[in-house]
Amino acid sequence: MLAKKIEIALNEQIRIEAESSQVYLSMACWAETQGFEGVAQFMFAHSDEERMHMLKLVKFVNERGGHARISQLAAPPIDFGSFKEMFQTLFDHEVMVSKSINDLVHITLEERDYATHNFLQWYVAEQIEEEALARNILDKINLIGDDKGGLYLFDNDVKQLVGQVSDTPV
Ligand code: FEO
Repeated sequence: MLAKKIEIALNEQIRIEAESSQVYLSMACWAETQGFEGVAQFMFAHSDEERMHMLKLVKFVNERGGHARISQLAAPPIDFGSFKEMFQTLFDHEVMVSKSINDLVHITLEERDYATHNFLQWYVAEQIEEEALARNILDKINLIGDDKGGLYLFDNDVKQLVGQVSDTPV
């Protein structure tokens, strides 16, 4: 049975994962309208991945005797400025999610909820991968800058990374 404090914290994480999915969906739309198919595919896959992260939490909360809450979400931006800015936003967003997961893990230790603590280890490992992937892409785009030819190649490169964000079982 989940303690109320843990249930509230898990529901907050459900909202964060849902909002992440919305942000990446909006990034996918922006990239697609700019004609960058590779980046758009990557972002659509990333958005699906975040929905999976959310669903995994939803199922866990309900299975442990809590009630997963589906809350209202903040609307993401429509325009992301440049690809460099967009991937910086993505990286910053993942750092924020990692912090939130870490805070959640801390609460489970305080409450001595070892089942939830164990469940959250999957998210801890996932965040290491997500941050590394985002940092990798950011490094590449920082090298390219605004060079059009470079961006074309970058778009193709990012397409190859789609498998890396869509291989997570729930
Ligand atoms: Fe579910 Fe990208 O954090």
